[in-house]
Amino acid sequence: MKKVMFVCLGNICRSPMAEFVMKSLTDDFYIESRATSNWEHGNPIHEGTQKALRDHAIAYDLGKTSLQISDKDFAIFDYIIGMDASNVADLKKMAPNKYQDKIYQFMDKSVPDPWYTGDFEETYRLVQIGCKHWLERLEVENG
Ligand code: 4NP
Repeated sequence: MKKVMFVCLGNICRSPMAEFVMKSLTDDFYIESRATSNWEHGNPIHEGTQKALRDHAIAYDLGKTSLQISDKDFAIFDYIIGMDASNVADLKKMAPNKYQDKIYQFMDKSVPDPWYTGDFEETYRLVQIGCKHWLERLEVENG
Protein backbone atom coordinates (compact mmCIF):
# COMPACT_ATOMS: atom_id res chain seq x y z
CA MET A 1 0.00 0.00 0.00
CA LYS A 2 1.40 3.41 -0.99
CA LYS A 3 2.05 5.85 1.84
CA VAL A 4 0.87 9.45 1.60
CA MET A 5 1.86 12.26 3.96
CA PHE A 6 0.37 15.76 4.17
CA VAL A 7 2.65 18.41 5.62
CA CYS A 8 2.08 21.97 6.90
CA LEU A 9 3.92 24.32 9.23
CA GLY A 10 2.37 23.34 12.56
CA ASN A 11 0.53 20.04 11.87
CA ILE A 12 -2.47 21.27 13.85
CA CYS A 13 -4.62 23.04 11.20
CA ARG A 14 -4.22 22.20 7.50
CA SER A 15 -2.34 18.90 7.23
CA PRO A 16 -4.46 17.05 9.82
CA MET A 17 -7.54 18.41 8.01
CA ALA A 18 -6.20 16.91 4.75
CA GLU A 19 -5.27 13.66 6.55
CA PHE A 20 -8.78 13.04 7.86
CA VAL A 21 -10.59 14.27 4.74
CA MET A 22 -8.45 11.89 2.65
CA LYS A 23 -9.08 9.03 5.11
CA SER A 24 -12.83 9.71 4.69
CA LEU A 25 -12.45 9.28 0.90
CA THR A 26 -10.32 6.12 0.66
CA ASP A 27 -8.94 3.07 2.44
CA ASP A 28 -6.60 2.30 -0.45
CA PHE A 29 -3.66 4.35 0.84
CA TYR A 30 -1.80 4.69 4.14
CA ILE A 31 -2.21 8.32 5.21
CA GLU A 32 -0.56 10.44 7.91
CA SER A 33 0.37 14.11 8.45
CA ARG A 34 3.37 16.00 9.82
CA ALA A 35 4.78 19.49 10.49
CA THR A 36 7.86 21.10 8.98
CA SER A 37 8.44 22.79 12.37
CA ASN A 38 8.49 21.48 15.94
CA TRP A 39 6.56 24.52 17.21
CA GLU A 40 3.35 22.68 18.07
CA HIS A 41 4.99 19.36 19.01
CA GLY A 42 2.58 17.19 20.99
CA ASN A 43 -0.37 19.57 20.66
CA PRO A 44 -3.79 18.34 19.51
CA ILE A 45 -5.60 19.28 16.30
CA HIS A 46 -6.66 22.96 16.43
CA GLU A 47 -10.22 23.45 17.70
CA GLY A 48 -11.11 25.28 14.44
CA THR A 49 -10.03 22.28 12.35
CA GLN A 50 -11.88 19.92 14.71
CA LYS A 51 -15.04 22.03 14.33
CA ALA A 52 -14.79 22.12 10.52
CA LEU A 53 -14.36 18.33 10.44
CA ARG A 54 -17.29 17.81 12.85
CA ASP A 55 -19.51 20.23 10.88
CA HIS A 56 -18.88 18.15 7.73
CA ALA A 57 -19.22 14.79 9.50
CA ILE A 58 -15.59 13.81 8.87
CA ALA A 59 -14.26 11.40 11.52
CA TYR A 60 -10.96 12.33 13.16
CA ASP A 61 -8.69 10.94 15.84
CA LEU A 62 -8.52 12.98 19.06
CA GLY A 63 -5.23 11.23 19.79
CA LYS A 64 -3.56 12.82 16.76
CA THR A 65 -0.92 15.30 17.99
CA SER A 66 1.59 17.44 16.13
CA LEU A 67 4.73 15.67 14.97
CA GLN A 68 7.64 17.08 12.96
CA ILE A 69 8.64 15.20 9.81
CA SER A 70 11.74 13.02 10.29
CA ASP A 71 14.42 11.55 8.03
CA LYS A 72 12.72 8.18 8.46
CA ASP A 73 9.47 9.66 7.12
CA PHE A 74 11.25 10.90 3.97
CA ALA A 75 12.48 7.32 3.43
CA ILE A 76 9.20 5.54 4.18
CA PHE A 77 6.51 7.71 2.57
CA ASP A 78 5.88 7.70 -1.21
CA TYR A 79 4.06 11.04 -1.58
CA ILE A 80 5.05 13.94 0.70
CA ILE A 81 2.57 16.74 0.00
CA GLY A 82 3.11 20.27 1.30
CA MET A 83 -0.02 22.37 1.83
CA ASP A 84 1.55 25.62 0.58
CA ALA A 85 4.54 26.85 -1.40
CA SER A 86 6.63 27.60 1.67
CA ASN A 87 5.96 24.13 3.12
CA VAL A 88 7.25 22.69 -0.16
CA ALA A 89 10.33 24.93 -0.12
CA ASP A 90 11.06 23.89 3.49
CA LEU A 91 10.54 20.20 2.67
CA LYS A 92 12.97 20.45 -0.26
CA LYS A 93 15.60 21.91 2.06
CA MET A 94 15.00 19.23 4.70
CA ALA A 95 14.82 16.16 2.43
CA PRO A 96 17.91 14.16 1.46
CA ASN A 97 18.70 14.50 -2.30
CA LYS A 98 17.47 11.03 -3.17
CA TYR A 99 13.98 11.81 -1.86
CA GLN A 100 13.40 15.20 -3.55
CA ASP A 101 11.11 13.57 -6.14
CA LYS A 102 8.66 12.51 -3.42
CA ILE A 103 7.78 16.13 -2.63
CA TYR A 104 4.66 17.71 -4.17
CA GLN A 105 2.47 20.77 -3.60
CA PHE A 106 -1.14 20.03 -2.59
CA MET A 107 -2.57 22.35 -5.28
CA ASP A 108 -1.31 25.14 -7.56
CA LYS A 109 -2.68 27.69 -5.15
CA SER A 110 -1.26 27.61 -1.60
CA VAL A 111 -3.87 26.50 0.93
CA PRO A 112 -4.34 29.54 3.20
CA ASP A 113 -3.29 28.99 6.80
CA PRO A 114 -6.31 29.40 9.11
CA TRP A 115 -3.89 29.93 12.00
CA TYR A 116 -3.48 33.38 10.42
CA THR A 117 -6.74 33.85 8.42
CA GLY A 118 -9.14 32.40 11.01
CA ASP A 119 -11.17 31.03 8.07
CA PHE A 120 -11.26 27.27 8.66
CA GLU A 121 -14.26 26.86 6.35
CA GLU A 122 -12.43 28.27 3.30
CA THR A 123 -9.47 26.03 4.09
CA TYR A 124 -11.82 23.05 4.40
CA ARG A 125 -13.35 23.86 1.00
CA LEU A 126 -9.92 23.85 -0.67
CA VAL A 127 -8.81 20.73 1.22
CA GLN A 128 -11.87 18.84 -0.07
CA ILE A 129 -11.16 19.88 -3.67
CA GLY A 130 -7.46 19.05 -3.37
CA CYS A 131 -8.03 15.67 -1.73
CA LYS A 132 -10.46 14.61 -4.48
CA HIS A 133 -7.88 15.55 -7.13
CA TRP A 134 -5.14 13.72 -5.25
CA LEU A 135 -7.27 10.61 -4.91
CA GLU A 136 -7.84 10.53 -8.68
CA ARG A 137 -4.13 11.00 -9.31
CA LEU A 138 -3.11 8.36 -6.76
CA GLU A 139 -5.52 5.87 -8.29
CA VAL A 140 -4.21 6.54 -11.81
CA GLU A 141 -0.58 6.23 -10.73
CA ASN A 142 -1.10 3.20 -8.51
CA GLY A 143 -4.18 1.44 -9.91
P1 4NP B 1 -0.79 24.80 10.24
O1 4NP B 1 -1.05 26.20 11.00
O2 4NP B 1 0.59 24.90 9.64
O3 4NP B 1 -1.87 24.74 9.21
O4 4NP B 1 -0.91 23.74 11.30
C1 4NP B 1 -0.16 26.74 11.95
C2 4NP B 1 -0.17 26.28 13.27
C3 4NP B 1 0.67 26.84 14.20
C4 4NP B 1 1.52 27.87 13.82
C5 4NP B 1 1.54 28.33 12.52
C6 4NP B 1 0.70 27.75 11.58
N1 4NP B 1 2.38 28.48 14.77
O5 4NP B 1 2.98 29.53 14.46
O6 4NP B 1 2.53 27.93 15.89
